[in-house]
Amino acid sequence: MTDTDAVPCPVGDLATDYDMFDAGYVQDPVPAWAELRGTCPIAHTERNGGSWLPTRYEDVQAMARMVPELSSLSPLVVDLPEEIANDPATGIFSGYNSGAPISADPPVQNWTRRILLPHFTPKAIEPLRDYTERLCRDLIDGFVHDGGCDASVDYAEQIPPRLIARKLGIDESRVDQFSEWVRDAGELGQQDPELRVRSRKTIRAFFDAEVADRRSNPADDLISALLESEVDGQPITDEMVVGMCHLQLVAGIETTRSSIGSALWHFAGHEDDRRRMVDADDELWGTAIEELLRFYSPVTMGRNAAEDVEYGGVTFRKGDKVLMNFPGANHDPEVFENPDEVILDRRRNRHIAFGAGIHRCAGSNLARMEMEVALRTWFERIPEFTLANPDAVTWSGGQIRGPRILPVEFD
Ligand code: HEM
Repeated sequence: MTDTDAVPCPVGDLATDYDMFDAGYVQDPVPAWAELRGTCPIAHTERNGGSWLPTRYEDVQAMARMVPELSSLSPLVVDLPEEIANDPATGIFSGYNSGAPISADPPVQNWTRRILLPHFTPKAIEPLRDYTERLCRDLIDGFVHDGGCDASVDYAEQIPPRLIARKLGIDESRVDQFSEWVRDAGELGQQDPELRVRSRKTIRAFFDAEVADRRSNPADDLISALLESEVDGQPITDEMVVGMCHLQLVAGIETTRSSIGSALWHFAGHEDDRRRMVDADDELWGTAIEELLRFYSPVTMGRNAAEDVEYGGVTFRKGDKVLMNFPGANHDPEVFENPDEVILDRRRNRHIAFGAGIHRCAGSNLARMEMEVALRTWFERIPEFTLANPDAVTWSGGQIRGPRILPVEFD
């Protein structure tokens, strides 16, 4: 329940009625964040189940650290309706076993994260680099002579599911299906609870079978490694491993696809920046990738107030949804000089595209490697490209923002 009287803001469309699925907001949320920062830095809406939207860097950072007052048991930006979430048959869709560590609070969050992190260190990711380079080259071979392609569907979308499939040890030939499940559970399911539940059940059933298989036939993959993990001398349950695998699939696909796609969208529409990257050295690639992650941060997460809690003159009532607006925080002029400009060689860039606090992204090394290889390989083969039809570009919104249809042309 929300006490809207607690919003110390003028009544206005954005301050008290923002809509994260509004077409204009999805297309370009930057002006809305700037307006709110000046008028109502912690806005509220009743739409989509109700939520609070902080827009200042300092506030998002602080809220990400309000553990356990702001709980991660249901980290989606739009919760399932209560009757579905509380149904024992579907109740697995919130709570720690649905996808720890992202859907857990300490102590479960601590130990599930500890188990996962060694598999995503730079050293653990490096062996995937050659494969990623080959994959990107093969994908480009498939369309380089066609004069154009959909840079989101034919390229950005194809890379992350193959990497996650490789890491988990699941059938790479089924990546189209994995992407579809994840899209239904995430992007499309945000506003269609039945679709979300159906696809999450499909993902769970898939991993139930994979986990059962690895119990009898251990392999050299992440599923087997998770099954072999122990906490306080005890093995972890199959149910928990299923939830953790589910999370890898959901967290690793649309996120990285969005970042690669947003970067290509940017370069296709900004000739000066594109030209600059054609001869870029390692240093410029390094800062450019961080800048693109900052400017086009794809991920917004949710928390729920575990109790009534006050912050910045606002009272979050128990159960209220609070959005971790990492993308908005990354445009705060208090922290970033000229925040609404892409500055490819930006030096001071303490962006929080990968989150902040205890839930900071466990897959950031993999995501950065994928972005770097995908973009550098593209530029080696296709240094000149433009948007084929700017009006045809579509973006996903809500939890994960990025281009979904992105026609580009080249010679
Ligand atoms: C550019 C791509 C990516 C972005 C922008 C991104 C962003 C984020 C953010 C903002 C969080 C914090 C969640 C929260 O505060 O509730 C997070 C958590 C997480 N991400 Fe990523 N992510 C990306 C790619 C990946 C990849 C490739 C993986 C690999 C499977 C991954 C795995 C995870 C995991 C396991 C967590 C949960 C960590 C925890 O709760 O302790 N992410 N990510």
